[in-house]
Amino acid sequence: YIIVPSSSSMKLTSSLASKLNAEIANVTRKRFPDGEMYVRIETDLKDRDVIVLGNTSHDSDLIEYLLLLNAAYEEKPATLNAVIPYFGYARQHMRYNPGEPVSSKVFTRAIENFADSIMAVEIHDEETLKFSAKPFTNVKVYDSIADYHKNHDIDYVISPDDGGYERAKSIAKYLKVDAYYIEKKRIDSRTVEMKMPDIDSRNRNILIVDDMISTGGTVIKASRILKDSGAKKIYVSAVHGVFSLNSAANIMENVDDLSVSDTIETSYSRITVSNDIKNAL
Ligand code: R5P
Repeated sequence: YIIVPSSSSMKLTSSLASKLNAEIANVTRKRFPDGEMYVRIETDLKDRDVIVLGNTSHDSDLIEYLLLLNAAYEEKPATLNAVIPYFGYARQHMRYNPGEPVSSKVFTRAIENFADSIMAVEIHDEETLKFSAKPFTNVKVYDSIADYHKNHDIDYVISPDDGGYERAKSIAKYLKVDAYYIEKKRIDSRTVEMKMPDIDSRNRNILIVDDMISTGGTVIKASRILKDSGAKKIYVSAVHGVFSLNSAANIMENVDDLSVSDTIETSYSRITVSNDIKNAL
């Protein structure tokens, strides 16, 4: 393989390249005088097996990604694999109100125009996979998360909502403990109501796992309730550390250890998904 890296995924590119023994393409990036983005892949991709690696969340990352994907396509590679660690806009995978777009459909269609296959890591909702006629894989990274906690003496694994219960169960199985979920009701984008499972948290080490941390509202509330009910140590892991509104600092108030993966590169990225991507390719 040869990997074409987008600026959002430089560290993950190095980690994946060393695991695949792959080359990394040279890319030039600059802005036109009017502010528009210019990219050029300097390495020859003709007849190569190419991976274009990067996120589609922030708008400039999204534009860079689509430009790089097309630049790779125009070089006529043997295969072109779109690997998107954090597939942005996947929360808007349906119209919640008339007049809204199906955002994840827009970008899936744009990507499949040029790619032979698409791979995302724990996409927010698998409904998005249906928008592509090309093979679209959703890579689960449960074992990589569990492995990070193997020496943390975890007693329970808790998902902050029923949608993440499969993840919690799978991580708990790896750690040979029990999994539970919190009944969560979202009031608005910043407020959630929670009903704890019926467990005795006193003096227990608890791992809260979620697909993403955005405003942090979900894990802050869950960790506060668990700490108030006597939990010893609270560990929090999420696949994607979006950390909007500077939420990491607030999360640390009741949390002993915060870890996210390197799908989004942050100072809490302690878990790499490069093995999971390598195994899924
Ligand atoms: C919800 O469905 C997700 O699994 C996460 O719990 C949620 O997106 C986290 O968002 P926030 O950090 O803003 O509470």
